[in-house]
Amino acid sequence: AKIHRHTFTIKSKAYTRLCNTKKILTVNGEFPGPTLKSYRGDTLIVNVINNANYNITLHWHGARQIGNPWSDGPEYVTQCPIRPGESYAYTINLTIEEGTIWWHAHTQWARATVHGAFIVYPKNGSSYPFPKPHHEIPIILGEWWKNKNIMDIPENAKKTGGEPAISDAYTINGQPGFLYPCSKPDTFTITVVPGLQYLLRIINAVMDEELFFAIANHTLTVVAKDGLYLKHFNTSYLMITPGQSIDVLLHANQRSGRYFLAARAYSSAFGAGFDKTITTAILQYEGVSLTDELNQNPPVLPDLPSYNHTEAATRFTTQFKSLRSGNVPLKVDTHLLYAISMNLLNCSDDKPCNGPFGKRFSSSVNNISFVNPSIDILQAYYRRIRGVFQEDFPRNPPTKFNYTGENLPFPTRFGTKVVVLDFNSSVELVLQGTNVLASDNHPIHFHGYSFYVVGSGFGNFDREKDPLRYNLVDPPEETTVGVPRNGWTAVRFIASNPGVWLLHCHIERHVTWGMNAVFIVKDGPTNLSRLVKPPPDLPSC
Ligand code: C2O
Ligand code: CU
Repeated sequence: AKIHRHTFTIKSKAYTRLCNTKKILTVNGEFPGPTLKSYRGDTLIVNVINNANYNITLHWHGARQIGNPWSDGPEYVTQCPIRPGESYAYTINLTIEEGTIWWHAHTQWARATVHGAFIVYPKNGSSYPFPKPHHEIPIILGEWWKNKNIMDIPENAKKTGGEPAISDAYTINGQPGFLYPCSKPDTFTITVVPGLQYLLRIINAVMDEELFFAIANHTLTVVAKDGLYLKHFNTSYLMITPGQSIDVLLHANQRSGRYFLAARAYSSAFGAGFDKTITTAILQYEGVSLTDELNQNPPVLPDLPSYNHTEAATRFTTQFKSLRSGNVPLKVDTHLLYAISMNLLNCSDDKPCNGPFGKRFSSSVNNISFVNPSIDILQAYYRRIRGVFQEDFPRNPPTKFNYTGENLPFPTRFGTKVVVLDFNSSVELVLQGTNVLASDNHPIHFHGYSFYVVGSGFGNFDREKDPLRYNLVDPPEETTVGVPRNGWTAVRFIASNPGVWLLHCHIERHVTWGMNAVFIVKDGPTNLSRLVKPPPDLPSC
């Protein structure tokens, strides 16, 4: 096992997109940020130097951080932010990770531009559970706001209670692509050799939308998701939620020429209020050349399902199956049900309201709209500082209730409440979508854990009937699961990683409105204790 050291300097730098130049936050001046590469079993130490004017933290999305929540990153959950002029070194032990994960900022909306791919190769001497590809290419799906300072977006939304600003374009590896006259010449291009096989490591770093993705004329073979291997399957398109990474094999087996890679929103929610544009990149067979020819004879677009095609999304995700079988916890110690919702709150006197019906948007988990405390929950828990969080998170809402109706069994309240789980207990968590204000898909991401997605369906979860249809043999293991609109998803995991861990929707506007929850897993007895001590350079608030 090797130790790799990196320096990530956060600084602002001017970038031009859509004929508009503005300063954005970057790591080392790069957008998207640098790709981290490592091998399973290795350790990374990333020293983050904050040379920007904003607080920052970084999160290693998909890294489990066993026993080391101090390096996990979400601000006010596992650490105080790194202030301008300060630095903090993150340690990432890649004990069980293998595949495509990623990293991103975890303060306000900084992750819109502060993100990058994180590739963990199999240990030396072991190999992929698929034919070795000839080349590997990270594909980062992102978003671009033309005139807005991204760092102002959540602040404004919180102040007014209205909708955060919608982006002007999606991007592939930082570029809006060929369909935008301003960006055409900079369109990201992959050149392939006929007959060879490529591994695309696709990451959805978009802030607010699930995406459909496809490559014209090419079938893709899905081999992994969230850095966890799947049984292979072929598909003509993907649906990828914010926070997810999906690895696909691409065989350059079509007629020599140029083909578009393309992505556009899958938004089941309002049918409005999102970016309806298409971002593209070009797949070009070696030997084809001349840019002017490209202009006269542009490549064709792939068939992307329409933005509201829920059936296409479901058809894709129901094909996920773990490559290995037999690891799912069969008995459950703790049953939890989390109703995840978007609600409207009345205004308070000091706050104007820009939401619908003269109210404020909010989001919640079991009626609690999460509020950041003033020091991080991990430190408060570790040092037994009182008054920072409460342990009375409503963990047992009614199991029989029409959650997909127009009300919840409780009113929404603000709070910093946690669920405490026993070390090594086996947990089943049902994530129940609701329809209070509106229904939407919610890609729920866990910090510190991967989990088995044992079941999913539309409507209200039925505690008697639905478990009979669980897949307890080879359900997919994931770190970000798309909970379907007006539906539910059941996940299981063993609480074997002590610490303070965040669980949240990876749609950033829902996070801004409060769709976060925190669970604390107690440390094991002395002989099994895993929780490490806080590092000396841990930032203070
Ligand atoms: Cu990628 Cu807390 O998230
Ligand atoms: Cu959500």
